[in-house]
Amino acid sequence: MSPITLDYQPRSWQARVHKRLKRFNVVVLHRRAGKTELAIMELIDACLKCELEMPLFGYLAPFRNQAKNIAWGRLKHRLRALIAAGLCAVLEGDLTVVFKHNGAELRLFGADNPDAMRGLRLDGIVIDEVAQVKPEVWQEVIQPALADREGWALFIGTPKGINLFSELYYRAQKQSDWHTALFTCHDTGALPKREIERLRRNMSQEAFSRELLCDFTAAGVDQLISLIDAEDAARRVYALRDISESPRILGVDPARFGDDRSVIFPRQGLQAFEPIVMHGIDNMQLAARVADKIESWQPQAVFIDAGNGAGVIDRLRQLGHQVNEVDFGGKAAKPKRFRNRRTEMWCTMAEWIVSGGSIPDDPPELRLELATPTYTFNAQQQRELESKKDIKKRLAGSGSPDLGDGLALTFASPVHKPTPLEEARTRTRRRSGRLEHNPYG
Ligand SMILES: Nc1ncnc2c1ncn2[C@@H]1O[C@H](COP(=O)(O)OP(=O)(O)OP(=O)(O)O)[C@@H](O)[C@H]1O
Ligand SMILES: [Mg+2]
Repeated sequence: MSPITLDYQPRSWQARVHKRLKRFNVVVLHRRAGKTELAIMELIDACLKCELEMPLFGYLAPFRNQAKNIAWGRLKHRLRALIAAGLCAVLEGDLTVVFKHNGAELRLFGADNPDAMRGLRLDGIVIDEVAQVKPEVWQEVIQPALADREGWALFIGTPKGINLFSELYYRAQKQSDWHTALFTCHDTGALPKREIERLRRNMSQEAFSRELLCDFTAAGVDQLISLIDAEDAARRVYALRDISESPRILGVDPARFGDDRSVIFPRQGLQAFEPIVMHGIDNMQLAARVADKIESWQPQAVFIDAGNGAGVIDRLRQLGHQVNEVDFGGKAAKPKRFRNRRTEMWCTMAEWIVSGGSIPDDPPELRLELATPTYTFNAQQQRELESKKDIKKRLAGSGSPDLGDGLALTFASPVHKPTPLEEARTRTRRRSGRLEHNPYG
């Protein structure tokens, strides 16, 4: 019997992706690159080779109808030789193909009907057009379905602003069992140069950046800080002499209810340093960590979110440290312009970023968090930053910008750098326990 071929010659980027896949994968590509093609072929390959009992693989698009429109016909076309030879059965109503040699099933799903996936055991899934998929479908349905037999997942799509896709892409870069790749239209060779030029002329700059150059930031005009600006800030580094005249400031964002991440963020002038990020610690432990940092780094001001940090603030004061409480919801120093203190701090931070601020490379999700909140103008023409609650709703519980809040706290009030004489006096008073108020807060 002559071998059956599937008639697939992967493009060079497709071959690279097929070869480098890990258990979890986020692959970012421009429009018309061949994403869906790659997804279908990866799934067929998995079905053909799987040796597990009753394997199930899935292809998921944001809507079931969309999955059917973009993948069903192509899947059957690719398998036509196997279907004709009776090696694959097509269950049209279930959008499922069954591979007879091992019983593997390949089924199409839509994120608009996550219930169809609940309780299933999945051995692998491709999530196409990730940017339009609701995050909870991944978190609450697919992830548990992959757990039984350590199934794999491939997220593939074109950017569409800040959402599950961008979130996964940036988070994945830090995790060793995740593979990430990004190919723009200039990397894949999938589109002729002439066609790229034509698209550039006919599309808005924003749409071209998003659809062809895979720019996650080219979606929202209402984003306070663009990802590009955050990434530029992560590439800048200052020498000590550049910042030595600036005050050292600590921002402390204690964990809030239902969230276990506490952040201590040091910044000196244009340079923000790598934050200390702690999980699941209580107020006393956090206060001890802040106290250590104060002792070793001698900041001129420490700003702590009062909403969640009352216990930390009390403890630090008890230990003799001068700290400033910041009420995120409180009145801004410029109330005509800003709805509340938090908006004002974030806007000051946004100006700092575009005027040369430098942020640490690590953790990489900092850049994403900075680019997450949007803003609006209210009836009083005040700027109002998207609340944490609304961000959580938009990103389905993930994406709480604690790191961003930590850094924003360092902009709570202007801090002036003390003269050497003032510094010496502060040191003496601190040693003798006589420092009663912070002159720089
Ligand atoms: N390896 C390949 N060999 C030949 N043709 C291919 C290959 N990969 C993709 N194509 C063709 O290129 C076109 C675009 O592919 P596909 O639909 O997979 O791209 P996409 O990135 O999913 O596009 P979109 O952004 O519109 O979703 C299709 O006509 C497809 O058949
Ligand atoms: Mg596609």
